Amino acid sequence: MSDSIKIEFVALGPLSAQTPLQASSKRAAGKAKGAQALVVFMAPDFAFGPSTLRLIGADGEALIRKAAAAAKFKGKPSTALDIIAPSGFAADRLIVIGARAAHVEAAQVEKDKTTKKKGENDEAQRDKGGEDAAPSPGDYANLGGFVIGKLGRGASAVVAFDLPRPPEDSAGAAAEFMLGMQLRDYRFDAYKTKKKDDAEDNSPTEIFLAVDEPSAARREAKAREAVAEGVLIARSLVNEPANVLYPVEFANRAKALETLGVEVEILDMAALRALGMGALLGVGQGSVRESRVVIMRWRGVKPAKESAKTKAQPIAFVGKGVCFDTGGISIKPAAGMEDMKGDMAGAACVVGLIHALAARKAKVDVVGAIGLVENMPGPEAQRPGDIVKSMSGQTIEVINTDAEGRLVLADVLWYVQDKFKPKFIVDLATLTGAILVALGQEHAGLFANNDDLAEKLLATGKATGEKLWRLPLGSAYDKMIDSKFADMKNTGGRHAGSITAAQFLQRFVNGTPWAHLDIAGTGMNSPGSDLNQGWASGFGVRLLDRLVADYYEG
Ligand code: BES
Ligand code: MN
Ligand code: ZN
Repeated sequence: MSDSIKIEFVALGPLSAQTPLQASSKRAAGKAKGAQALVVFMAPDFAFGPSTLRLIGADGEALIRKAAAAAKFKGKPSTALDIIAPSGFAADRLIVIGARAAHVEAAQVEKDKTTKKKGENDEAQRDKGGEDAAPSPGDYANLGGFVIGKLGRGASAVVAFDLPRPPEDSAGAAAEFMLGMQLRDYRFDAYKTKKKDDAEDNSPTEIFLAVDEPSAARREAKAREAVAEGVLIARSLVNEPANVLYPVEFANRAKALETLGVEVEILDMAALRALGMGALLGVGQGSVRESRVVIMRWRGVKPAKESAKTKAQPIAFVGKGVCFDTGGISIKPAAGMEDMKGDMAGAACVVGLIHALAARKAKVDVVGAIGLVENMPGPEAQRPGDIVKSMSGQTIEVINTDAEGRLVLADVLWYVQDKFKPKFIVDLATLTGAILVALGQEHAGLFANNDDLAEKLLATGKATGEKLWRLPLGSAYDKMIDSKFADMKNTGGRHAGSITAAQFLQRFVNGTPWAHLDIAGTGMNSPGSDLNQGWASGFGVRLLDRLVADYYEG
């Protein structure tokens, strides 16, 4: 895990506001800072959890009431009150975080039902701030991120994880909270040679997370730590500039997963030619950087355990890895082109996901496959009008060299379904600008040829907060990519750009249950959130890790 944040679970019961907590022996060797902030939670109407009331005492509560009145702090979620701690407290700062009110009683729920507009869904209610739906795991992660945001980097704090509305799964909630803290703490500053002199800012954040059952929370946290690592790996890959992270270098980074027991195979130019991946190779041919395909396999299920009759099929994840997308001969305008270093966010997610699954020893047989190319103009670049032959045998007329992602995925999808016969494939790609027009940065586009897989993904999106919105596929859209000269063309015109791109991909899955996530709006250039203030989001790692955990493990 990153060295910039240390989180230690401690017991809430024996915690006292007057006694400072000692850093664990290992860290005490360094410069222990001692707790400087005490973080507690409060719902509206000064509703505290029982442990919090005991911890802050009557003096603490009186101080909070006075300060809250002065600051007009009501305890609403996503608000905080930051005050000087009462004298006698070990902490200097007392931070009160607004939290959700306790679950209302059955009678109240009945009453709410009558006030709730007919047909209004949970999300609409939640947006109004008045709902009582059970919190999702993502909500606890967001809360952890929010707390780190309030504390600031380099802070030292005791967090009394005692929520006015006690979570159903308290260890799981604490672990998600920790995950959120780790995600929020991340920043990509590898290329900043002039660090701020501010010592606070450069020293690690130290958190004592006080929970009812530290050992149970620690157990849950181990798996979440693996997921946090996966997200941060994905973010760093996306943030890296393309002069550093070109296909061969990206493949080397994926190779590092071998230390976790992942089998990693790198297909080089000769291998790609031998396989007949003409669509993928056509995209890379304008670049001096060689193309690569990387196949990762995590076998978390013992072959002996698998039933002999049904030959076990892995599940598969495929990622678009265009290390830089200039557009090629159909070159992009200069403004904002630097963002196209992130056109490998799908591949980055797959690497981060396989890391997470292997690091937490997930009981699943999974394949990760990424197509790595650089899309450049130049004397050897492919031209509009060129016709390439894909590994599937289908021919493609390249109308626009900037619609390259689908060309790369066509060959990787075909290879994966042909070689592994997976139960299903989920691909992730920063595929179309049109998905930003349709959905903005709130939802990734979901396309699927299988309703069951789509439903599972949608539900997991809601649980994690990595939200998806399903868009249609259909034969009328499919016709739009028929070509005069070849089996298909790589663009379908101005209309329904994200859908015709998905239709194109569908022609290469050969009937395998499949879902495509268009993450052009969610994988990079991210708006700030509780979990992330950086450019790359790592979108998809938490989503797909949970998809595996909830439906495909064991
Ligand atoms: N990588 C882009 C899509 C993209 C746009 C990702 C904005 C992230 C942010 C993709 O390769 C592309 O250029 N798509 C074209 C397709 C068109 C030529 C049919 C697009 O969306 O304009
Ligand atoms: Mn492009
Ligand atoms: Zn692209």
